[in-house]
Amino acid sequence: MASKGEVFKSKITVYVLACWLLAAFGGLMFGYDIGISGGVTGMDDFLIKFFPKVHERKLHAAENNYCKYDDQMLQLFTSSLYLAALVSSFGASKACSILGRKPTIFLASAFFIAGAAFSAAAEQKWVLILGRILFGIGVGFGNEAVPLFLTEIAPAQHRGAVNILFQLFVTIGILVANLVNYGTSNMHPNGWRVSLGLAAIPAFVLLIGSLIITETPSSLVERGKETQGKVALKKIRGVDNVDAEFQQIILACEQAKKVQKPFKKLFKRESTPPLIIAISLQVFQQFTGINAIMFYAPVLFQTLGFKSDASLLSAVITGLVNVGSTFVSIFAVDKAGRRKLLLQACVQMLISQLAIGWILHVHLKETGSLDRTLAAIVVILVCTFVMSFAWSWGPLGWLIPSETFPMETRTAGFAFAVSSNMIFTFIIAQAFLSMLCHLQAYIFFFFSAWILVMGIFVVFLLPETKGVPIDSMVETVWKQHPVWKKFFTDEAPKSYEMA
Ligand code: BGC
Repeated sequence: MASKGEVFKSKITVYVLACWLLAAFGGLMFGYDIGISGGVTGMDDFLIKFFPKVHERKLHAAENNYCKYDDQMLQLFTSSLYLAALVSSFGASKACSILGRKPTIFLASAFFIAGAAFSAAAEQKWVLILGRILFGIGVGFGNEAVPLFLTEIAPAQHRGAVNILFQLFVTIGILVANLVNYGTSNMHPNGWRVSLGLAAIPAFVLLIGSLIITETPSSLVERGKETQGKVALKKIRGVDNVDAEFQQIILACEQAKKVQKPFKKLFKRESTPPLIIAISLQVFQQFTGINAIMFYAPVLFQTLGFKSDASLLSAVITGLVNVGSTFVSIFAVDKAGRRKLLLQACVQMLISQLAIGWILHVHLKETGSLDRTLAAIVVILVCTFVMSFAWSWGPLGWLIPSETFPMETRTAGFAFAVSSNMIFTFIIAQAFLSMLCHLQAYIFFFFSAWILVMGIFVVFLLPETKGVPIDSMVETVWKQHPVWKKFFTDEAPKSYEMA
């Protein structure tokens, strides 16, 4: 294989920059949806129309702070999207290989636009849920194709930063959604329709973008279109001589083609380490509790005794912190390394969650609310939590699974990362409000325990991949790791319980 970390010549042309930014709108679509649901489910007009019982309970909130939003159907509104995304991400991985990345991105935006239309126009609950499912298919297609697209068209030396562009746009999407909700919360009675319908805007930009962007050279070569592949490579590298890199793509594709069934190969012994890492990072990412905050920030802040407006404003503040801190990651990831960022974040997230849990446990009873100072402290703690997530588990949960698989299992392995993200996002979205009702402040201790586990996992099991060329991961990383190297020795026992 040609690649041993060789750096090929390239310029960052206006066209390639446009390709990165247009594709990253897929992240914005995903983020917008993460951010919009919480605000919408806190709006009275929306609740009266679709969830009158929840609204009734909210009016009598004084009866129980922690349980006013606990309703399975209401949670299904938020979480059905992720179920649809989970199922569709496998279809999306097929679409990516058969049709290419570009048409898959086009399909993602088309589904999303349809989702926005149905959701905004909904008069019945089933239409609302149908809208969510269409949104979900859009997210499944987008999240599979966009990071793959960005990785494939990025020059190797900028791959980390370009990949994190996706996460940056996710955070921008969440922020924009919070701002939109802030604006529409006083727009009666159809503010919620505006919030849901505006999702069509980033999707529309992505739709137009998908017509402008190039297909990736790898995808073209993979589908036998070698001449077009070379033209595309010249265009995105901005130089005429791309022979060496093109040769590498041809070799990598030939190598990958030898593996007829990448999903089968994924369950072979030597694929276990990257597969465990990819799935665990996504599962842990969700068990930080980030989406309990992202989806339900306005609802959570209302639980803490903030008024509707103030709670949306607090969600805007956390959204801003989320975007700003993602930049830290873009600059630090290739200098400090992945492990340091993840471990530092574990400490900061743990302290924040424990402190929030303690304040709520001591000061927020089932009735009544927090006093202003304590409520402000909780908002600050939520910010320190979100900040550390944003420069670590957020972007690295996507980056590491995309860089640790060898070429032949990369797309199949990444599909597992995407679907693990979706299933655990679904679980958190579906369970959080009930957990809040039953565990009350202890929910923050629940997440703290997970943060401890994931810190230990990083210390012992996560290898450092900073600066390692993507095609020499097996030799340089996996075969050198004290635990994972056992999966590569020929004489290792067939059943591999680790001592
Ligand atoms: C996660 C999302 C989360 C977002 C927050 C992403 O990396 O996958 O679940 O809501 O970060 O910024």
